[in-house]
Formats: sequence, C-alpha cells, structure tokens
Amino acid sequence: MPEDNLNEEIEGEEESKFSRRIFLKFFMGVSAVLTVVPFVPMIQYFFTKETPGSTSQKLVNINDIPPGTTHVFFYPGAEDKHRSFLIHLTEEEVAMAEAQGKAEYITDGFVAYNTICSHLQCPTELPEHESVVCPCHGAVFSKFDGSVVSGPPPRALPIVTLELDQSSGDIFATGMIGNIGIGRET
Ligand code: FES
Repeated sequence: MPEDNLNEEIEGEEESKFSRRIFLKFFMGVSAVLTVVPFVPMIQYFFTKETPGSTSQKLVNINDIPPGTTHVFFYPGAEDKHRSFLIHLTEEEVAMAEAQGKAEYITDGFVAYNTICSHLQCPTELPEHESVVCPCHGAVFSKFDGSVVSGPPPRALPIVTLELDQSSGDIFATGMIGNIGIGRET
C-alpha cells in the first residue's frame, strides 16, 4: 500500500513537471512571436522585393521634358518609396557619361532611377551638375547611372528601365533593376 502511494506521488510529480514544461514552451513561443511582430513592417520594407517587371507605365512625352531637366515620378506604385527621377541628359552630359563608362542605362538620352538611398533609405535631392546627393549622411551618387560616387551607401540606386515610343514620343517605365531601399549590384 505505501508503495502504491509512493508511485502515485511520483506520477503526480512527473505530470506537474510535464505540464510546467509545456507551459514554459508555450510562454516562450508567445514571447518570441510578440517580440518579432512589431518589426514585421520594417522587415518587409527591407526585404520585400519589388517585382514590377511586367508593369509598363507612361511617364511623360518627350516634348514635355527638355534636355537638362528632371521629371519626378512614382514607380511601380504611388508610395513615397517609389519616388523616382527621369532625367533628360544634354548631349554634353551623355558624352561625359560615355567617357566615364556610366552610359549603360541611358536610353535615347534619358536615364531613370529610384531615389531612395541604399544606405538608410532617405530620399535623395534633385540632381545637380553630375551628382545626386543624399542629405542624411552626405552620400553622392552619379547623375548618369545612380552609382555611388562617395559616402556610406553600399550600393547604387535601383534603375528604372525605359522605353521610348518613337512615333508618339511617349516615354515608358518598363521595369526595375535592383530593389528599393537596398539598391542594385552594379
Ligand atoms: S541615408 Fe543616404 S547617406 Fe545615409
């Protein structure tokens, strides 16, 4: 009889240890989820890849953007992070870009890129001379292809690929190279 009682006590202890372990695991699981949830939007911002490959969007007509001017547009969506520049380069600028080996993304004298800095995601200022400057930590990007000239950004600005309809003169955005806020490899 005493032996039966002892066995029951041992079983009781085992059961309570078991339920304590389950409770602890459950508690830790819930804590982990609650810790991560507030960071989900940030994680999505940094790691969600834009896939606008098939999105064609009319930007402007060639007659409305004379050489030496910049048109601000939003692509592939309308959020702040989609702010982009379409730049109509002058002939001298195109020649300069070619001489510097930075003409790869120029289409019929136009180049376009997203304006969110690949360092800590500040919006860059409008282009001036040969540069686009990020006001947050002083990064300088090339106006000709969005590549990093100086400062902390690890990557060039994402390029918006362009197509010019020769008959109508309409300029279209057709896709992106690189990811917004992260930049592109080249
Ligand atoms: S966010 Fe642009 S240089 Fe830091």
